[in-house]
Amino acid sequence: MEQYVIKGGTPLHGEVTIAGAKNAALGILAAAVMTDDEVIIENVPNVRDTRVLLQAIQGIGAKVQYLDEHTVSICGKYIRNTEDLCVDDEFIRKIRASYYLLGALLGKYKRSKVALPGGCDIGMRPIDLHTKGFRALGAKDEIKDSMITVKAEHLVGSHIYLDVVSVGATINIMMAASLAEGKTTIENAAKEPHIVDVANFLNSMGANIRGAGTDIIRIRGVKALKGTTYSIIPDQIEAGTFMVAAAATKGDVLIKNVIPKHLEAITSKLTEIGATVEEFDDAVRVMATGRLRSTNIKTLPYPGFPTDMQPQMATALALSEGTSIVTESIFENRFKYVNELTRMGAHMKVEGNVAIINGVEKFSGANVCAPDLRAGAALVIAGLAADGFTVIEDVRYIQRGYEKFSTKLRGLGASIERVESEKDIKKFKLQSQAV
Ligand code: UD1
Repeated sequence: MEQYVIKGGTPLHGEVTIAGAKNAALGILAAAVMTDDEVIIENVPNVRDTRVLLQAIQGIGAKVQYLDEHTVSICGKYIRNTEDLCVDDEFIRKIRASYYLLGALLGKYKRSKVALPGGCDIGMRPIDLHTKGFRALGAKDEIKDSMITVKAEHLVGSHIYLDVVSVGATINIMMAASLAEGKTTIENAAKEPHIVDVANFLNSMGANIRGAGTDIIRIRGVKALKGTTYSIIPDQIEAGTFMVAAAATKGDVLIKNVIPKHLEAITSKLTEIGATVEEFDDAVRVMATGRLRSTNIKTLPYPGFPTDMQPQMATALALSEGTSIVTESIFENRFKYVNELTRMGAHMKVEGNVAIINGVEKFSGANVCAPDLRAGAALVIAGLAADGFTVIEDVRYIQRGYEKFSTKLRGLGASIERVESEKDIKKFKLQSQAV
C-alpha cells in the first residue's frame, strides 16, 4: 500500500500549475459517448477517477485513445447497444461519477444500467434527485443486485425542481434532457463552474442548453449530438488546496492555470485570516507570514464555500490564532479527519455538523490515515506544516483527485515522498536528517 512520508516545517515557495478539473472531466468524459462521432477532450486530469471512468467507457465498447497524457479521443459509435448493455466492474463501483453514464446512455439509447455509485464515504449520498429527474423525462428506474437500470420509450422534456442543490443530479438531467423531445427546465440547479463546463461541452456537441451557472437551466432537446474538440477548465479544488497549503506553511506560491473568479470563496477566507492573495488573469499568488487568524466557515453550494475545501481550510484554521467554527452543511460525514488531526496536536471538537477549533501554534508529525480524498489532502497540508515526520496511509484516496501531488509539492520545496514500505520510510528519514 502506498503512503506519503513528509518532513514538515518547510514553507512552500515557487510556482505550480493546476490540472484540468476532475469533476468537470468526469461529466464531460461520460457525455462524450452521447455521439457516434469522435470527440477530443483536452486538459483531462490524469487521476485515478478519470482513468477508471475511461476504462468503464472502453469496457462498454467505446473507442478510447490517449493522444497525449492529457488529451483523450473518445468514439461512442462502437458501444454495444444491446439489451444487456451494462456498466459494471470492480473499479467503477468505487467511483461516484459512474452515475453520469446513467444520464448519458439514457439520453442516447433510452436505457442504461450502471453499478450503483461508490465514491468517498462522506455521507449518505443518495441518488433520488437523479431518478426524480429521469422519471420526469418519462423514464422508469429499478434498483436490483446493486445495479440501477433506467429505461424510457421516449424521453420528453419536462419541468424539474430539485429539492436540494445537487451537482450530480443537475449534470445527469442536463445530459438526458439534451436528447429528449422538447423543452426541459431545471429549477434550483447547481451553479458550480463544472456545471457550466459540462453545459458548454454539450453545446459544442450541438446541444441547446441555456442558463447554466444560474438557478434555472433551460434545455431544448435535439435529435443528435456531433463530434467536437473541447478543453476542460482548471480544477478549482486542486488550486484551492495549493492556496491553503501555501498559507498554512507560511509560504509564497504562484498557482498557475486557474480561473481566479472560481476561487473567490477561498480567496476571501484566506484574506480574512491574514494571508495575502494576489490575482492575475490566470494565476493567483498566495503569501503568508506570521500566524494566521481564526474565522468561521460554512460550506454551501457554489458560489458559497465549497465542501471539497472544508478539510483543507479547517486544517489551516487549526493552526490559526483563536477559535474558529466550521459548519458542514452539504455532507453528514465529512469530519473523519478530525481524529487524525488531533493526533498531530490539533485542538478540535465535532458536534453534529459543526467543528469547533481552538488554534494551536504547531502540529507535530504523526502516523495518520487518509479517510477520503479531500481529508487526505488536508492531512498532507498538516504534515507539511508540522514539526517532524508524518506518514499518511491510504494515499490511494488522494490519488483519486490530485495529479502528481507529491511531485508538485516537491517542486515547491516540500520534503515529501511516495513510499511503499517501512524500509522506504526509514531511508527517507535518514536522508532528510542528513540534509
Ligand atoms: C459532487 C462532487 C463532489 C462534491 C459535491 C458537492 C463529483 C463526482 N463529485 O458530488 O466532489 O463534494 O458535488 O459540491 O462531481 N443529494 C440528494 N439526492 C440526490 C443527490 C444529492 O439528497 O439525488 C444531496 C447529497 O446528499 C448532498 C447534496 O445533495 O447533501 C449535494 O450533493 P451533490 O451535489 O449531488 O454531490 P455529488 O454530485 O455526489
